Amino acid sequence: MTTPAATASIPAGLLVEGAREVVTMAGGLRRGSSQDDGGVVSSSVSDLAVACWEGRVVACGPRDEVAGRLASEGLDPGDPARFVRIDAAGGTVTPGLIDPHTHLVFAGSREGEITLRRHGAGYLEILAAGGGILSTVRATRAASVDELVECGRRWLGEMLRHGATTVEAKSGYGLERDAELRQLEAIGRLDAEGPVELVPTFLGAHAVAPEFRDRADAVDAYVRDVVEVQLPAVAQQGIARFCDVFCEEGVFTAEQSRRVLEAGARLGLAPRLHADELRPSGGAELAAELGAASADHLGVPSPEGIDALARAADAGSPVVATLLPATSLFLKGEEYGPARRLIDRGIPVALGTDFNPGTSPAPNLQLVLSLAVLRMGLTATEALAGVTINAAHALRLGDTHGAIEPGRQADLVVWDVPTVEQIPYWLGAGLARAVVKRGRVVWQAGRD
Ligand code: NIG
Ligand code: FE
Repeated sequence: MTTPAATASIPAGLLVEGAREVVTMAGGLRRGSSQDDGGVVSSSVSDLAVACWEGRVVACGPRDEVAGRLASEGLDPGDPARFVRIDAAGGTVTPGLIDPHTHLVFAGSREGEITLRRHGAGYLEILAAGGGILSTVRATRAASVDELVECGRRWLGEMLRHGATTVEAKSGYGLERDAELRQLEAIGRLDAEGPVELVPTFLGAHAVAPEFRDRADAVDAYVRDVVEVQLPAVAQQGIARFCDVFCEEGVFTAEQSRRVLEAGARLGLAPRLHADELRPSGGAELAAELGAASADHLGVPSPEGIDALARAADAGSPVVATLLPATSLFLKGEEYGPARRLIDRGIPVALGTDFNPGTSPAPNLQLVLSLAVLRMGLTATEALAGVTINAAHALRLGDTHGAIEPGRQADLVVWDVPTVEQIPYWLGAGLARAVVKRGRVVWQAGRD
């Protein structure tokens, strides 16, 4: 650790003190019974501290131990030029939340589809009739990058104040080269603006573009466009880190998805999938075969798909199962995905908002934690692992993000409740007291 002279106006250190519980998530990816191990440190007298220096965690534990560790590094937490101090006031400290699946950047809204669904229309039926994703495509194509940035900024602010410090964000509402590039550019600009860190994903294969839909070979022709026109331009632009596909019967088959994901991988974009959301479509099997970073939704994976994910996890190449319960809630489905079965089979589970204007206008990961506990049978700790260390692994950030351990990026949330169990329990309440990104307080309750 370096200790340069404290000349900068912003102190390089941060000390969170007075916590009753720190859920560290130290020790790496959670799967099976370890998903319920939060690496919790607790103190009945609320004297726990977390110290950070130059954006990284330095120490965590009882206040005296942390002070001793800082002293051994020649750091005095009492020096206001060097340390910002925040009082956790008997609350809980967790790693900053990570949302591993969002469609953050779009234009317009789709509240009218609630009425269509009330009259019996299905999600894929609305899409086939030119609505759904395609209606957001029309609005997004018409928007400038500035407008996309503005819309994304609004919802990122909501995510932040509910504890999110890292958020994956997909394109997929352009469905043609230039509009996809504009979405990715907006994501890149929001990431540079901060404080929330964004992980960009290219999702050209989100639906078949309207220009292709009247052709007899519509889906294959559009897949060719994604592979031959969109992907090379996306790789050249250099913003996207992942390539995603909506692998679903009636959208892209497993075979078409494979073509897109393999082409993406050849260009350096790691694969992740929307898999088996509404029907078993071979998505989980494909994710395991390709060594995808994650298989998302998994509302109704086949038994073979679950077997394939379990084998990958046992073989040490886990594909994270990223479940999206706010989408199930919003589409009024009764099917929240087989979360317990996945955990019992040793498959690491993450949770995300799936924030988007059609199926999950929900920017709040705290709500997702509540749904995971109330509707999917997860414990509070299993759910929290799903939006911290396991979500970090789903984004291939598992070595640097998602836990409070010395050397890791200092992304933290100080919660206004004394135990992890109370985070999903106060349904819909805003419980974050302070949010810390790279060792700096970036949001505090009552100050925005
Ligand atoms: O993850 N399932 C596909 N894509 C999004 C929905 C996008 C939309 O309807 O606009 C999802 O739910
Ligand atoms: Fe999605």
